[in-house]
Amino acid sequence: MSSFDPYLANKATAGFNTVFGQSPELVVRCPGRVNLIGEHTDYNNGFVLPIGLPFETVIAASPSLTNEMSIVSESFGSTTFSLDNDPMTTPDWGKFIHGVGSFMFNPESVHMGWNGYICSNIPSGANLSSSAALEVASGFVFKLVGAQETSLQELALIGKRVENELIGVSSGIMDQMACALSQDGSALFLDCLSLETSAVVIPSNAVTVIMDTGTRRELKSSSYNERARNCEQAVASLGVSSLREVSISDLDILRDPLAKRRAHHVVSENARVLNVVESFGENDCVTAGSIFNQSHLSLKEDYEVTGPALDRIVEIAVDAPGCFGARMTGGGFAGSAVALVSRDIVRDFCAFVEQNFVCPESQPAVTSTRIYPVEACAGVSIL
Ligand code: GLA
Repeated sequence: MSSFDPYLANKATAGFNTVFGQSPELVVRCPGRVNLIGEHTDYNNGFVLPIGLPFETVIAASPSLTNEMSIVSESFGSTTFSLDNDPMTTPDWGKFIHGVGSFMFNPESVHMGWNGYICSNIPSGANLSSSAALEVASGFVFKLVGAQETSLQELALIGKRVENELIGVSSGIMDQMACALSQDGSALFLDCLSLETSAVVIPSNAVTVIMDTGTRRELKSSSYNERARNCEQAVASLGVSSLREVSISDLDILRDPLAKRRAHHVVSENARVLNVVESFGENDCVTAGSIFNQSHLSLKEDYEVTGPALDRIVEIAVDAPGCFGARMTGGGFAGSAVALVSRDIVRDFCAFVEQNFVCPESQPAVTSTRIYPVEACAGVSIL
């Protein structure tokens, strides 16, 4: 499936026309992401392997020729703010855009404001990076409007700063790097220490399937930041600068059992990412799939970020026809899981999971469960 969705782009252009009474000067698109493996490793300087999704956020925009901005989102209403003001004064989703603009703002240069109309088909709160896509898409618009040289990697780092400094989530760099740098047809292997990336081809007999449980949880209100603190504690006790530097046997000296389990997940997950990359290289989806299953178990038992709905859907997926392996994806607690499935019977797989998954009573869904195969799509671009 192509990452260019003319329907969404046309809708954003028409929306811009209606609101601002003229055609937009530029249209930017940015995909969401699903992580194949390497969970909660990014803020520990580890490895991750996401793909860009055929779901995207599209912004139709024109420079405002001032520092004032007026933005309308098809789904979330409208916001106005000035780049001369503190982004913390802009509420809700507008803060992501205002934050990116304020970190890119150079008072010496031309006006950087723009007016925009936003459409998106990335499910929000599903652990598929709708907020990172908004950050990277709006960063790309700021780059074009301000005629800045900002690289895609720099745009990703700006998005991360917004999450860390303005939203209050201690997240890593994976989501924004995936939104910015993903490639058509391949997974993106990212070393979160060096920020080096390379394309990893997924064997052609396998398809990535997203399983959105329909449950939702705010990353900030979750225990995400607590997990990051647990890892910092392990790092301090080990006397290293990150968990990237240690092996499983080094963890023996950790006295605190909780810090030890958290660190065990991170260190073993890094090895799993490398092993999946190797298995893909050998067209060995059976081994890759079994590593997906091990990852879920580690996230459930050592890192404790799964939850009843994610555990249930993974359990069903693993028994479904054609499944090589399945695991939760993204921050966890709720939202989506991902499965690696044999291409020739992917329809049977999806039907099986749809028929058999019922959200546990202890964690009700807030939106419908959706199961869909996806192909890897390219990162942010101008249309
Ligand atoms: C969220 C964060 C990422 C990453 C994942 C877990 O998506 O934004 O930085 O930590 O959780 O792998």
